[in-house]
Amino acid sequence: MKMVLSLVAGTTFLHAVCTLNHHIQHPVIDDRLTRMRQRDCVSSDFRRYVREISQLMVPSVTANLLTLPVEVETPMEITTGRKLERDIVLVPILRAGLGMLEGFLSLLPEAAVAHVGLARNEETLQAECYYYKSPVHITDADVIVLDPMLATGGSASTAITELKKQGAKHIHFACLVAAPEGLNNINGQHPDVPVHYPALDSRLNEQGYILPGLGDAGDRIFGTIEP
Ligand code: PRP
Ligand code: URA
Repeated sequence: MKMVLSLVAGTTFLHAVCTLNHHIQHPVIDDRLTRMRQRDCVSSDFRRYVREISQLMVPSVTANLLTLPVEVETPMEITTGRKLERDIVLVPILRAGLGMLEGFLSLLPEAAVAHVGLARNEETLQAECYYYKSPVHITDADVIVLDPMLATGGSASTAITELKKQGAKHIHFACLVAAPEGLNNINGQHPDVPVHYPALDSRLNEQGYILPGLGDAGDRIFGTIEP
């Protein structure tokens, strides 16, 4: 952990820049993840567990956001409270990231939402951005990228690169299941981006699926699995 000084609205804060990988541990998250891993977990339950876990992740993912002092008039007297320094922008990576959005929005309803659509180029095998729409204030916002699966890390890294190109400076990445390969990839390419995950699985298979993993998260959330 390194310490930095920053000057915010005339006040000097000493705050910690916490690197990098945050393993979120919570018994209810563990319970829901285990239920989701079951191959016979139906789509409606799978989607609900993604939402519940996402909701439970919010306090950890937002734990290091900066706040500012603000004057507040209670019914009794004037005092000083704190408010978030920056607006929050949530960025679900299409498609599976949409599954995490509702859980995050339920606790952060004031957040704006940017969308990033990615598809794999079958020649280069790299994820390429085919859709991007964000609020203009993304440059000054705390940006939280959502995707349940961090496998090779190609999608997450491409999305973060695109967000940085658009001016985002304060980015977090939140997933449900990470593979060591994906974590190394994102840590290497974006060492400034904290990664939050409740599960770190063992490895990838030859097709780039996480083992033991969840299977294809997008298909399971949206019920598009081949019969
Ligand atoms: C999944 C997942 C991530 C990506 C992870 O999306 O939601 O975006 O794969 O793999 P990576 O770390 O190797 O890039 P997918 O491409 O299956 O699209 P979907 O969300 O539409 O199902
Ligand atoms: N995408 C998924 O949905 N699941 C994986 O295990 C890997 C990539």
